[in-house]
Amino acid sequence: MKSRIKALVWAIFRLIQIDAFFRKPDYHYVPDYFGKSAHKQMDIRTLPIFGELAGQVIRDGRCSLYYDRLFTIHQILVHLNSFRKTGEEIHLAEVGVYKGGTSYFIASLAERLDLKIRHHCFDTFEGHAATDINTTVEISHMAGAFSDTSFESVKEYLMKFENIHIYKGRFQDTSHHVQDVHMNFVHLDMDIYEPTVFALNFFDDKLAHGGVILLDDYGFDTCPGIPKAVKEFTETHPGYFGMSLLTGQYLLIKH
Ligand SMILES: C[S@@+](CC[C@H](N)C(=O)[O-])C[C@H]1O[C@@H](n2cnc3c(N)ncnc32)[C@H](O)[C@@H]1O
Repeated sequence: MKSRIKALVWAIFRLIQIDAFFRKPDYHYVPDYFGKSAHKQMDIRTLPIFGELAGQVIRDGRCSLYYDRLFTIHQILVHLNSFRKTGEEIHLAEVGVYKGGTSYFIASLAERLDLKIRHHCFDTFEGHAATDINTTVEISHMAGAFSDTSFESVKEYLMKFENIHIYKGRFQDTSHHVQDVHMNFVHLDMDIYEPTVFALNFFDDKLAHGGVILLDDYGFDTCPGIPKAVKEFTETHPGYFGMSLLTGQYLLIKH
């Protein structure tokens, strides 16, 4: 009887175009291209190391990425860990660090995975530079956006980790610090075209084989400069396996 009533209620809802679900805590709508089984996917927040570390940086309020995009970074570091040679130090970089949350996640995860890393962090720490705003490309990014941070506060936030280097200034002016470094993983998160194109070309010959460049914002309609930069780069650099992810990120793996 109960299930007949339930079926009737749902039929009425469907008729008047209301979706009804049993509520699961901490869930919200996703587009229906995820398919009806999306609710069956494992809850990545329950994964022991990942859930704890991602939860911490999200709660710290210093990270623009949420669980979904942090999970991609988690997967990349786990992958690097399984391919490294014993005792080998690997070099990582984040360009576009802002308040330091994602770099904190990278460093804390590496520590927990017992990965020996050197992590290079780049940002103006004054937001987007006016000279980097290409007005024919950018639609929503303005000079000075993301300036509510500072070199000093990020340095203090990340100081508990060893082997972290923080460079202040436009990446175009500070990249020389890693001129001779063999990179294994680079997270590019500057949102805008000009420095992203520069960074892709800069890291091209510094990336190890099997190394990864992860671009944020590729699939976000607020950042048209990122797919433009990726398209131009991949069309002229065939040595990569490229993949667009449903998280809005783009993955480039060097052959
Ligand atoms: C979206 S925020 C980065 C968010 C950060 N990755 C996180 O997960 O919280 C974009 C950052 O790119 C930085 N940025 C923009 N142009 C840059 C450039 N030419 N060189 C270095 N950093 C730049 C901005 O200052 C800003 O902090």
